[in-house]
Amino acid sequence: MQPMLLTPRSHRRARRPGARLRTLLLGACLVGLPGLTAAAVPPLLLGTAWYPEQWPEARWPKDLALMQAAHIHVVRVGEFAWSTFEPRQGVYHFGWLQRAIAEAARHHIFVVIGTPTAAPPAWLTSRYPQTLRVGPDGKRAQHGGRQQFSFSSPLYRKFCREIAARLARHFGHNPDVIGWQIDNEMGPPSFGAGTRHQFHAWLRRKYHTIAALNRHWTTAYWSETYEHFSQVPMRAQGENPGLLLDFRRFVSATWASYVRNQVRAIRRYAAPRQFITTNTTHWGDQFDQYAISRELTLASWDDYVPDGRYHWLDNAVEDDLVRGYKRRDFWVMETQPAFVDWAPVNAALPPYAMRELAWQDVGHGANAVLYWQWRSALNGQEQYNGTLLGPDGEPVPAYRVVRGIGAQFALAGAALAGTEPRSRVAMLQSYASRWAIDFQRQTVRFGVVREFTAFYKPLERFAQSVDVVSPQAPLARYRLVVAPALNVLSRAEAHHLAAYVRAGGHLVLGPRSGMKDSYDALWTERQPGPLVPLLGGHVEQYYALLKPVPLAGALGSGTASVWAETLEPRASDTRVLMRYGKSNGWLNGKPAIITRRIGKGSITYIGAWLDPPLMRTVIDALARAANVHPLIPGVARNVEVCERVGDGKRVWILINHGRRPHTVHLPAAASPMLTGGPPRRTIVLAPHEVSVLLGSHS
Ligand code: GAL
Repeated sequence: MQPMLLTPRSHRRARRPGARLRTLLLGACLVGLPGLTAAAVPPLLLGTAWYPEQWPEARWPKDLALMQAAHIHVVRVGEFAWSTFEPRQGVYHFGWLQRAIAEAARHHIFVVIGTPTAAPPAWLTSRYPQTLRVGPDGKRAQHGGRQQFSFSSPLYRKFCREIAARLARHFGHNPDVIGWQIDNEMGPPSFGAGTRHQFHAWLRRKYHTIAALNRHWTTAYWSETYEHFSQVPMRAQGENPGLLLDFRRFVSATWASYVRNQVRAIRRYAAPRQFITTNTTHWGDQFDQYAISRELTLASWDDYVPDGRYHWLDNAVEDDLVRGYKRRDFWVMETQPAFVDWAPVNAALPPYAMRELAWQDVGHGANAVLYWQWRSALNGQEQYNGTLLGPDGEPVPAYRVVRGIGAQFALAGAALAGTEPRSRVAMLQSYASRWAIDFQRQTVRFGVVREFTAFYKPLERFAQSVDVVSPQAPLARYRLVVAPALNVLSRAEAHHLAAYVRAGGHLVLGPRSGMKDSYDALWTERQPGPLVPLLGGHVEQYYALLKPVPLAGALGSGTASVWAETLEPRASDTRVLMRYGKSNGWLNGKPAIITRRIGKGSITYIGAWLDPPLMRTVIDALARAANVHPLIPGVARNVEVCERVGDGKRVWILINHGRRPHTVHLPAAASPMLTGGPPRRTIVLAPHEVSVLLGSHS
C-alpha cells in the first residue's frame, strides 16, 4: 500500500503553534519507527471489527470506502472465522483474507488478525469431542455458540497451534498486518478428567509433598486430610479456601499456557513489529490478568456499558486497571456503537457519551478504540447488537458519531504520539485478594470492585491520574500507594510494601487488608499480618454492618457502612486519626483509622468502608500529606482531566462530562488540537465537549 504521510489537519490548521511544537509534531511522526510502512501507522487509531467472511467480496470495497470516510484506520478480522479458514481438516483457505487485507490497505486501513480459536469448527468438535469443555456439573459442552472448547486439552491446543502457525506463516510479514489477537475474551475453565489430572500435577509441583499441602490448607479441619494428591477434589466454589485459591491460580496458569501455545506459534513466523494481545473483559477475574499479560506484548480490553449508563469514573478505573496489566499503553479492542445486545435492557449510550468514552480511553492511555461491530451478520446470535451499518449496508446514526470521533482522532493523533499517562499515585489490585474475599464475603454487600472503586473515585478526582498495578509492581515512582482490601498479603509483598514506606513512600491500606497469607490461611498476627510491626498496631476485630455507624476525628466526620474494623495502636508513635461513635456496642469509641510515620514515609490503616463524602475528605487529606497535587487545580467536578506526556510533549485531554459549560485554567499555555488556534491558558468547555491541548514538557 501507499505509505500514508501524516499531515494532520491539527498541524496545518493551528495558526501559530510555534516552531518548537511544530518540530515536536513532525518528530513524533517520524522518530523511532522502523520502516516506512510502520511509520505510516497513525499513532491514534480508530477501528472496527469487520467480518469479510460473512459478505460477498464484491461488497468489500464499499465497506472499506465507508470506513475510510469515517477515518477508520484499523480492522480486526478473523477471530471467529475458523470454519472459513479451514473448512475441512487440513484444508486451508487464506486467499480471501489476503484479498481482504489488500483491499483494506488500498483504503489505508491496517489489520489485526484474531486467531479463531474461540469458535472451533464442527468437523473438529464432532471428530474430536474430547476437545469440548466440561462444565462443573460434569456435562460436556455442545457444538454451536462459542467457547465450547477445553482450555487444557492437549489435542485442542495442537489444533490451535496449527491454525495460529499457518496464519502467521501467511501473514506474519504482511506489512499491513500490525498485530494479533489470541482467541477472544477467554474465560470459562473446563472441569474434565484431563484438567483434574493437570491440577493434581500442578499441586504436586507447588507443594512437593502432600504433607505440605495438608499443612497450608489446615486440612485437619473437617477431616479433609489427603494421603495423595490424586484425592484432592477440583471445585470452583464451596471448598477449602486454600484449595479454591490454588484452583484459581491453576486456572490462571492454564490460560497462560493456552495463550503461550499460540504466541509461540505466531512468534516463530511473525515480524517482531507485530504485537500480540488478547481482548479481556469488564473487571474480568476468571484468571489473573497479570499472569496472562506477561505472555503478551500489549494489553487490550472490551469497554462496554451494557445498560447505557455511562459513569465516567467507573469507566476510568477500568482503563487504569488495563493500563496496569503491562504498565504501558493499551488498546480498547471493542466498544459499543450505541448499544449491545446482552444486558437486561440494552439502552443506547447518548452520542456525546460515545465521544466522551472514546476520548477518556485515550486520555487514560489507549492508542486505539475499535467499535464492535461494523455490520451485523444477517443471521446469528447477535443480530440486535449495535453496528455502524444497517442490514442494507448503509450507515446507521452511530456511524456519523464514530466518523466525528475519527475526525477528532485525526486532528489530535500526531500530538499524542509517544505520550502516555505518568502517575504519582498508585492503587494496588490483587486477584488473590479479590478471589479470597469473594469466596467468603462475610456480608454480601462487600463487593470488592465496589470497594476498590469507592477508593478510586476520590483519588482520581484529586490526583487526576492514578495507576492501578499489582502489589508486586515497582513502586518507587509513587508518592502515594493505596491498597483497598489487600486481603491476601504474602510475606514477599509485605516486604516490598515495607521497603516502599521505608524509602519515604506513603502507604494506605483499606479494610480487610493483610488478613491471609498466600495460601489463604489466617496470619497469626491478625491484620495487617506481616505489616503489623511497621504499622505499630493491628485490627482487634472485624464486623459486618447492618446500619451505618458514625465516626469522627482529625480527618472529619461521617459514617461507615458495610464493614468496620476496630484497631489497636500498639506503638507509642502510632496515632489514631478517626474513632467510631456510639453504635452497636462493639465499636463505640474504638479507633477506625490509625497511622504511623516511618522516616519520611508513613503507613495508614483505614478499617472502615467510609461514606463517599467522608472518603473524599480522608483521601484528600492523605493525598495532600503525601505531597500529591492535582495536575490542574480547581476544575469542576464533572470535568475530567487526563494528561499524557512523552517526547518533550505534555498533552491534556479535558472532558466535560456535565451539562453546563466549564472554564479550565491551565498551568501553562497549550495549543487546542481539535479546534485549532493559538496556544492559550484558559479553556471554556461547552457541555460534553472534549478539548485536546498540546503543550511542552521538559
Ligand atoms: C463481546 C465479544 C464480541 C461480541 C460483543 C457483543 O464481549 O467479544 O465478540 O460478542 O461482545 O457486544
